[in-house]
Amino acid sequence: MKKVYIETYGCQMNQADSEVVASILKNNNYEATNDILEADLILVNTCSIRENAEQRVKKRLIEFDSLRKKKSWLKIGVLGCMAERLQKQLVEECNVDIVVGPDSYRDIPYLLNEAEKNNKSYISAILSEDETYADITPVKLDTNGVTAFISIMRGCENFCSYCVVPYTRGKERSRDPQTIIGEAQDLFNKGYREVTLLGQNVNSYIWNKGQVNEINFAKLMELVAKISPLLRVRFSTSHPKDISQELLDTIAKYDNICKFIHLPMQSGSTAMLKKMNRKYTREDYMNKITAIKNTIKDCGISTDIIAGFCSETIEDHKETLSMMEWVGYDSAFMFNYSQRSNTLAAKKYEDDIPYKEKTRRLEEIIELQRRLSLESNQKDVGKIFEVLIEGVSKRSKEQLFGRNSQNKVIIFDKKDTKIGEYAQVKVTSCTSATLFGEII
Ligand code: 5AD
Ligand code: SF4
Repeated sequence: MKKVYIETYGCQMNQADSEVVASILKNNNYEATNDILEADLILVNTCSIRENAEQRVKKRLIEFDSLRKKKSWLKIGVLGCMAERLQKQLVEECNVDIVVGPDSYRDIPYLLNEAEKNNKSYISAILSEDETYADITPVKLDTNGVTAFISIMRGCENFCSYCVVPYTRGKERSRDPQTIIGEAQDLFNKGYREVTLLGQNVNSYIWNKGQVNEINFAKLMELVAKISPLLRVRFSTSHPKDISQELLDTIAKYDNICKFIHLPMQSGSTAMLKKMNRKYTREDYMNKITAIKNTIKDCGISTDIIAGFCSETIEDHKETLSMMEWVGYDSAFMFNYSQRSNTLAAKKYEDDIPYKEKTRRLEEIIELQRRLSLESNQKDVGKIFEVLIEGVSKRSKEQLFGRNSQNKVIIFDKKDTKIGEYAQVKVTSCTSATLFGEII
């Protein structure tokens, strides 16, 4: 067998896609390796969401290209969102052999074959309206054997004005629920104890729409939760405009559905949200948070925030800060706005907040979140949580780490517990990033 090294950037969806690609390649005589030096094929699965994500990959491609000096037969390919967005440019600027967009992974063996035969570069980047890779059993890469991602839908049609994803991942489509449940059951049988159902906007998941046997996202969550009480279920990501009360009720009803919701706010200002084409106001967002808190006891909440979007005033920025304070997020992903060509914002609005000012606002947001995370963690000191043990702590071999239902990492002395087991852990101390505890 030949060896393929796959490096993955970007979202969890990309991680799930790399596992689909590894599976396709395994059936075509390629085995995955973690050692780049023994690879016959290097694939990089890429993200276009911000300019710096693309710059990082371009630097890596130059490094990969230099490996050809010692290995003339080495093939290099780009997958994912940059492949879809840049296509020919990657061949011309970065000397890659194959460029394959998110809906064309089944073409990889053919493209490789042609590239080897003819010593030319090949591109396949046509977006599909129905590809979900439903029949492919992913080959787990870098796995802890405990937690896994399952892709349940692809694409996005929300067209948030700043976002490149609708252009790189195409139309929204849902995967056959039977194949999702089959994959979750199979993972459980193999010893996995947590699955995260993935989609760009999971609340739009729909199968057999309008028919008696229609399955929406809440129903799908329920079906997966029923596989076993020992299988934890998570999901990502929800759009605030369509997270439903039915879903919140389902989360509350099943102990093994984790009490954690990632609900990207982006901005706390209604004016900015309108320009971002988010389709909700500050008040709408607050109502959703209230519904979460009223329905689900002790639910962890995290978010995404963009600093310095087009024409954002200091008042808009302050509304973001006050919303953060009001919600009391447990954690957040926070970014400077990065203009992406072809998006609605790039066409309609000027990227007019200077980089220095964006960064100043971002730092203010990060600083506030550090305090909120610390406050949230301090409230957990003294509490007992059920933790699913995921691995050995980086700090010491004698310590393990896992997560509680609210998605917080807890580190503790291992005693006689093992990875993959559940443990009751009492939190004894914390930092803003981590809880520390002891097994009880
Ligand atoms: N600039 C900065 N952040 C962005 N995101 C998406 N597009 C951009 C952009 N152009 C952020 C959003 C989204 C997360 C995945 O990335 O916050 O929720
Ligand atoms: Fe990045 Fe978005 Fe593509 Fe995921 S879908 S890789 S976050 S651009």
